[in-house]
Amino acid sequence: MAKKPPAYACRTCGDSFARWSGRCASCGAMNSVVEISAGEAQTLARSAGHSQAAAGLVWEDARVQQDQGAAAARLASGLSELDRVLGGGLPEGAVALLGGEPGIGKSTLLAQIAGAVARTRMVLYVTAEESVEQVRGRLERVCDLTSPAARLRLTASSDAAAVAGAIRSGEYALVLVDSIQLLTLAGIEGEPGGVAQCRACAATLVEATKLSGSAGHPATAVVMVGHVTKDGGLAGPRLLEHLVDCVLSFEGDRYQDLRVLRAVKNRYGSTSELGLFRMGARGLEEVADPSGVFIAERDPGVPGSCVVPAMEGNRCLLVEVQALVNPTTAIQPARRVSGCDPNRVAMVLAVLSRRLRMPLGTCDVFVNVTGGAHLDEPAADLGIALAVASAWRELPVPADLVAIGEVGLGGELRPAPRYEQRASEARRLGFQRLLGPGAGTGRGRLVVVRLGEAVEAALG
Ligand code: TYD
Ligand code: MG
Repeated sequence: MAKKPPAYACRTCGDSFARWSGRCASCGAMNSVVEISAGEAQTLARSAGHSQAAAGLVWEDARVQQDQGAAAARLASGLSELDRVLGGGLPEGAVALLGGEPGIGKSTLLAQIAGAVARTRMVLYVTAEESVEQVRGRLERVCDLTSPAARLRLTASSDAAAVAGAIRSGEYALVLVDSIQLLTLAGIEGEPGGVAQCRACAATLVEATKLSGSAGHPATAVVMVGHVTKDGGLAGPRLLEHLVDCVLSFEGDRYQDLRVLRAVKNRYGSTSELGLFRMGARGLEEVADPSGVFIAERDPGVPGSCVVPAMEGNRCLLVEVQALVNPTTAIQPARRVSGCDPNRVAMVLAVLSRRLRMPLGTCDVFVNVTGGAHLDEPAADLGIALAVASAWRELPVPADLVAIGEVGLGGELRPAPRYEQRASEARRLGFQRLLGPGAGTGRGRLVVVRLGEAVEAALG
């Protein structure tokens, strides 16, 4: 009998292929395609159909909830920063995936949600990763368990079918699973955390959640943890994204205490709100006054830095853009961007080169948004341009100046939305001057309509 050809699957998105490649043809992830067993390939082919069916079910369910006036009740998680990201708490019957690198604080966040919700509702905490004792120790450290102890059940299990049973039983308002990569489903080939197991377990939990509200009790909400590693070593949340209602991403530097929570996908609210926490001795603390948290470490005397009053959802946060410009003889100078859109940076560099005659075509340019913040709005263009211009001229932007405005291809500037809110937040944090196009009545407003004028006003 002819030997079956080997099969391959991407650990990030779960697509399968007949041939190996260094870059996944479906999702573009690098080095994530691995060889899988023939049995696993068969299961994957079956579960692709299965998960499509599950996705259809989710869609219908969401529509029914919308028809009922989007009335799905929400569970307040007890952490207002998390509730803000979710759009007002976790809806009953919703499945959220909490992704993040190991050590970032996912289990800690889960413990705090458990403690808070268990004050009023029944919670099941399933740990497949740590012992019950370990989780109990953490729970005691990060939340007050004296009153809610009776409403929190803690169990060590890695059996997805058992967890699905608990979800369907209607006994629990909230089921927490740490982590989806360590669950297994009998009858499915492959290692725990492998593509086939991960997808089958998640689909089983989602199906159970969607069926949970039917027997007269409120639907169960589920939060499951999914690990992500930088090198894609485990099946990533993208594999599960289409199955769940919300994908939350928990980010930050493991060696610093600031943590940023974002919704990457949210069927029940926007994806523009940020949640900010600090990891402390007693778990995650919410950042009380977040506006200035990203500029706390800033050294204002250094060239190549500019502060931008950026909107993250409904809040204005001050964010620092840093740039480094270094002449090079390389034919293709380096462009490295983190924390903002590389295409917008490329456009800003082109405008600076062409309209302001800065010879950036022969320089390496690095642009970085500090502290793990992201600058996604076009209004950040002016701040990026000033950081680059300041780096090129080796002159610092004044310490008390913030800049906001969109840069057009002709070098013209356009005003930013929510200008007044940004102006008052910047002033509250001690910035005396606001540079950019926009209303010019307030004290300290430097109104400029062209990029050239802005560079002269800031560095001239
Ligand atoms: P953890 O929640 O276990 O991370 P994850 O589940 O994402 O892997 O916590 C990560 C780190 O947080 C761990 O190194 C210890 C630290 N930590 C604190 O600093 N304070 C605390 O109260 C807790 C519970 C953890
Ligand atoms: Mg953990």
